[in-house]
Amino acid sequence: MDKLIVEGGYKLKGSLNISGSKNASLPILAASLLTDEPVRISRVPDVSDTNYMLQILSQLGASVERSSGTVRIENADGISSSASYEQVRKMRASICLLGPMLARMKRCTLPLPGGCVIGDRPVDLHVRAVQALGARVRVKGGNLHIEAPNGLVGTTVDMRGDNGPTVLGTDNLMMAAVLARGTTVIESAAREPEVVDLANFLNKMGARIEGAGSRTITVHGVESLHGCEHTVIPDRIEAGTFMVAGAMISEGLTLNRVCREHLKAITEMLLECGHKVEFFNDGESVFVQPGANPRSGKINTAPYPGFPTDMQAQMTALFAITPGISVVRDSIFPQRFMHCSELKRMGANIRVDSGTAVITGVDGLSAAPVMASDLRASAALVLAALAAEGTTEIHRLYHIDRGYEMLDEKLLSIGAHVKRVPDVEAGSVEA
Ligand code: EPZ
Repeated sequence: MDKLIVEGGYKLKGSLNISGSKNASLPILAASLLTDEPVRISRVPDVSDTNYMLQILSQLGASVERSSGTVRIENADGISSSASYEQVRKMRASICLLGPMLARMKRCTLPLPGGCVIGDRPVDLHVRAVQALGARVRVKGGNLHIEAPNGLVGTTVDMRGDNGPTVLGTDNLMMAAVLARGTTVIESAAREPEVVDLANFLNKMGARIEGAGSRTITVHGVESLHGCEHTVIPDRIEAGTFMVAGAMISEGLTLNRVCREHLKAITEMLLECGHKVEFFNDGESVFVQPGANPRSGKINTAPYPGFPTDMQAQMTALFAITPGISVVRDSIFPQRFMHCSELKRMGANIRVDSGTAVITGVDGLSAAPVMASDLRASAALVLAALAAEGTTEIHRLYHIDRGYEMLDEKLLSIGAHVKRVPDVEAGSVEA
C-alpha cells in the first residue's frame, strides 16, 4: 500500500506521451476469447485493471504474454466457462467477459460485480442483451449463470437504460452477436470511442459490424473469427486529466499521442473557462496553458460526445481555485462526488446536493492528508495537491494505479515534486 507525497506550487512544464486507453483495452482483451488463434494488442497500459483482466484470462485457460505495452493472447482450447469471484470482485469491468464467454462457449458463470464508490453498478441491460439473443439467465449465489445451448440468434435490441446508453453493455452485446446466427441491430448504442475501437478490433478478427460510433450498430453474425494485430486508441481520460493539470498550474504543458476528435468536449470546456488549448501535429499533440482570467463553468455530464462523467472530478479540482461559482452535475453517476469531501479538507468551498456540486472558487488550496476513494476522484486529489500550498499526502494510491500508467514518473518528468512511498500508517487508516 503506497501513498503519494506531493509538494504543491511548482509549475508544470515540458511534454509527455499519453498511454493507450484502459477502457478500450479491457473489452478488447476480453474479446480475444472469441478466437482460438493468437491476437497481439499494442499500447495496452500497464495498470492494475488491465493486469487483473490478463490474470482472469490466464485463469480461464488462455496463454498470456506481455512485453512492455504489447500483449499476446492465445485462447486455443480448454477455456473454462466460469471466472472466479476472487478475481472478478476486484474489477467491475470484468462484466465485459460475459459476451465473449457466452459466444465462445454457449454458457458462462460470472460473479455479479459488486457496486463501487461511484454508485450502484447494475447489469440489467447486459442481461436484457443476452436474453434477447436467446440465452437463459439465472442469478444464484451471487453469480450470473447464463446458458445458450442452441447458440445465439440475432435480433433487434434497444439498449437504452434509465441513465442513457451503456458502454460495456453495448460492448457485451456486440461481442455476443458476432458469432450469433443472423443479424443483430443494437438500438440506443453507446457511441464512446472505446466502443468504436472494440468494433474495429472485432472487424479485424473477421466480424461484420457496421455503424459503431452511431446510435445504431448492426452486427452480421459469422461462423468464426481469426487472430489479428491491433493498437488501442489513446486514453482520452488520461489526456483530459493532464490537460486540466496544464490549465491549473503550468507554464504550458504539451501532451503527445492524443486524439483531438476524442477530446472535443473537454477542449470546449477548458476554452470556455478561459484557458489556452492548441492542437498541432495533426491533432495528435496538444498544448495547454492557464488562462490569464480563468472563468467558472457549468458541466452536465452526458454520454459521448457529451462531457464525460470520468472527467467531472478533475474539472471540480480546477473549479475549486477558479474565481466565481461553478456547477457540476453528474446524471450518469449521481453519487460520484467522493472527491468533494477530500477537496474540502484542502480548503475547497463545495456544496454537494442530489447529484450536483456547487463550487465557489477560493484563492488557493492548502495541503492536508487526504484519501483516494476511486480512480478519477484520486486524480482530482493529485491535481489539487499540485496546486495547493504545502505538502499533501494522498493515501490509498492503489486507486490511481488502476487507471493511470506510471503517474508519478510522468508527473516528475514535467516538473512536479512528487514521491511515492510505502504507506506505513495504511494499517491504521484501513482499520
Ligand atoms: C464505462 O463503465 C467506463 N468503464 C466507466 O469508466 C465510465 O464511467 C462509464 O462507462 C460511463 O461512461 C469502462 O469502460 C471499463 P455504463 P460502464 O454501463 O460501461 C447505468 C473509469 O473511471 N447502467 O455506460 O460500466 C449505470 O448505472 C470508469 O474509467 C444500468 O442502468 O458504465 C450508469 O448510470 C468508471 N444498467 C449508466 O448506465 C446496466 O445494465 C452508464 O453506465 C448498465 C449500466
